[in-house]
Amino acid sequence: IHGNDQSTAIRRRIILFPLPVQGHINPMLQLANILHTQGFTITIIHTQHNFPNHLNYPHFTFKSISDRFFEVANQIPKGDASFFVKYLNRSCEEPFRDCLTGLLAEYDDGSVSCLISDALFYFTQAVADSLKLPRMVLRTTSLAGAIAYGALPFSSENGYFKLTKEDSNYEASVPEFPLMKVKDVVKMTTNPEGMGEFVTNMLNQMKASSGLIWNTFKELEEDALETICQDFSVPCFTLGPFHKYFPASSSSLIEQDRTVISWLDTQAPKSVIYISFGSVARITQSEFQEVAHALTNAGLPFLWVVRPGVVPGSEWLEPLPEMFLERVGDKGRIVKWAPQQDVLAHPATGCFWTHCGWNSTLESICEGVPMVCSPCFVDQPVNARYVSDVWKIGVFFGG
Ligand code: UDX
Repeated sequence: IHGNDQSTAIRRRIILFPLPVQGHINPMLQLANILHTQGFTITIIHTQHNFPNHLNYPHFTFKSISDRFFEVANQIPKGDASFFVKYLNRSCEEPFRDCLTGLLAEYDDGSVSCLISDALFYFTQAVADSLKLPRMVLRTTSLAGAIAYGALPFSSENGYFKLTKEDSNYEASVPEFPLMKVKDVVKMTTNPEGMGEFVTNMLNQMKASSGLIWNTFKELEEDALETICQDFSVPCFTLGPFHKYFPASSSSLIEQDRTVISWLDTQAPKSVIYISFGSVARITQSEFQEVAHALTNAGLPFLWVVRPGVVPGSEWLEPLPEMFLERVGDKGRIVKWAPQQDVLAHPATGCFWTHCGWNSTLESICEGVPMVCSPCFVDQPVNARYVSDVWKIGVFFGG
């Protein structure tokens, strides 16, 4: 990070650029806080779509850029992360270049040491290069998730992604990444060609960067770290778990319902099932109803986060089975968004039924809460296999 010229002493400003998704904003803002405690001055460039509350960060400077997200907001295909990522890489390029150029002119004392961008904003490497600014990358997945992305033949002809339950290979291991089954790979995306394009761009621009920062820790992923260090010949820093230094609550895009904590206080130790499928995954109406039936049958207290929009076409709780709420009574709480870290740390929480987003997985591991893993897409199936089959701290549950 330090420059090698006479200005080293003042090269203490870092510009960060998060992807506008909760699971990416949280670790980027946590990293910014960590760097701030190390004496760096922080500037955050963010899109107009999904940005954290500036008031929670009076010690940072914020710059907003146009992203034209509204043009496609209603067209994002279910299960295709590449659509959103590729669109933003195109729509943000010019405004980001203008913003960064302006910032470098404003801070013309040579005080900017580097840009840290989310790995999914791969276009930023060329912009940083053209402005002669080192670019570091924050990759918000696990190391294992990144290895799987590099190994899987998203764009190849062999067609794993097109297999269905009826194919005999559906339950077989994938030769390129034997921990995963074909059915896990199928879940990762509904658009393998699009995913292949975005993953190739992302990995190439990670390799072209000045270094990679990971929200994980060596003790958890030692073997994967060795592989990553060999595959990417740039410096790698495992600085996580970030949330143990700074909670994610201040970067929450949705208001967290804190009344759940006093409800948890009334429950027996390790008795409550906590359910959440993160900030972007969408599930079908029948999957949603299956969760409700499972909770009724389990008969245990539960806290269920139903994010508005999690079931496409529904506002919130309309698809619940008839009489569900009457039947569960005080035994269950349903909220739109919870203070997840505090919930996982609460003595009443006994188990986390999760989509295995990497932040959720790390947060659960750190609180010692066992997981029921129902991954939806992208890196979640890899994380779920690690939780169930490698670390053996959860069970895999899902077709
Ligand atoms: C996305 C991808 O789904 C994930 O696989 C990838 O690793 C990161 O980007 P997301 O779906 O948002 O992430 O899940 P996750 O990574 O688990 O992040 C969710 C964050 O929101 C966590 O920090 C969690 O604490 C927070 N959260 C979740 C809340 O604050 N309240 C809630 O009710 C639910």
